[in-house]
Amino acid sequence: EAGTFTLNNGVEMPKLGFGTYAAQESPDFTAAMDHAVETGFRLFDTASMYGNQIDLGNYFANNSGLDRDNYWLTSKVGQQEQGYEETLAAFKNTTKELQTDYLDLYLVHWPKEKHMFQTWKALEHLYKEGYVRAIGVSNFEANHLDRLMLEATVMPAVDQVETHPYFNNHVTRDYMQSLGIQHQAWSPLGQAADLKDPLIITLAEKYGKTPAQIVLKWHNQNGTAVIPKSTNNKRITENATIGDFTLNPHDMALVNLLNRGERIMGAPDENYVNDLW
Ligand code: A2P
Repeated sequence: EAGTFTLNNGVEMPKLGFGTYAAQESPDFTAAMDHAVETGFRLFDTASMYGNQIDLGNYFANNSGLDRDNYWLTSKVGQQEQGYEETLAAFKNTTKELQTDYLDLYLVHWPKEKHMFQTWKALEHLYKEGYVRAIGVSNFEANHLDRLMLEATVMPAVDQVETHPYFNNHVTRDYMQSLGIQHQAWSPLGQAADLKDPLIITLAEKYGKTPAQIVLKWHNQNGTAVIPKSTNNKRITENATIGDFTLNPHDMALVNLLNRGERIMGAPDENYVNDLW
């Protein structure tokens, strides 16, 4: 049990979640979900863009054995859903597909959306009306956060951005932490590439853990929540059971120094359409 981080509105968010991007393409989707639930995952991260909300909704309604208040659902407003009324409609569709009447966390998926302030106003409305327990953003860097804060009356609770040892994004993380925004990492394992790093392998041997467990612990000790993706039972178990060891400060520093500024995906800045907000 990895525990929770307390968001800026007092909501407790699990430090460890299950990323579901493309999970429905696995022939073992239901088995993987069962395994995730059995091994203790209680936060599930999706997006309208992932095309799997119906699969997840069916799973939770029919197979999970969990009551709705025993698991956390995050989803994201897609790029084609921007605007005030559009976002409210998108939320309706998302909750219908997920077979739920509320979300734990609803995020703006990318800062490149048009009508950003209107989208954010819709999220604030959903939050104030109690349809979502927390609202936030994804792929927002400092300039996007600054821009959003010009208009926001509710601060984002979470910013979910690409973060892993080869792209540790610490400047953005520090900025969000200074604003009280919880950092959450997507692709926390660097799509598994970072797990092959010799340092990570050495630390895994030293602590008697797997490379993924070293990297996920490094994130959590940095104050970062994580949503690793896997549809393989053995690796789901690894990711769910990091254990309560602590990387010492020297080893934390060594992993911090692996940063190469290497993104998996293009920088959100390239798509930053300031005047469209
Ligand atoms: P698989 O689904 O076969 O386990 P990220 O979450 O950083 O995007 O990484 C996802 C990738 O990392 C997937 O290819 C996944 O493959 C792999 N992966 C997930 N967990 C582990 C693990 N514990 N050890 C090794 N590879 C992993």
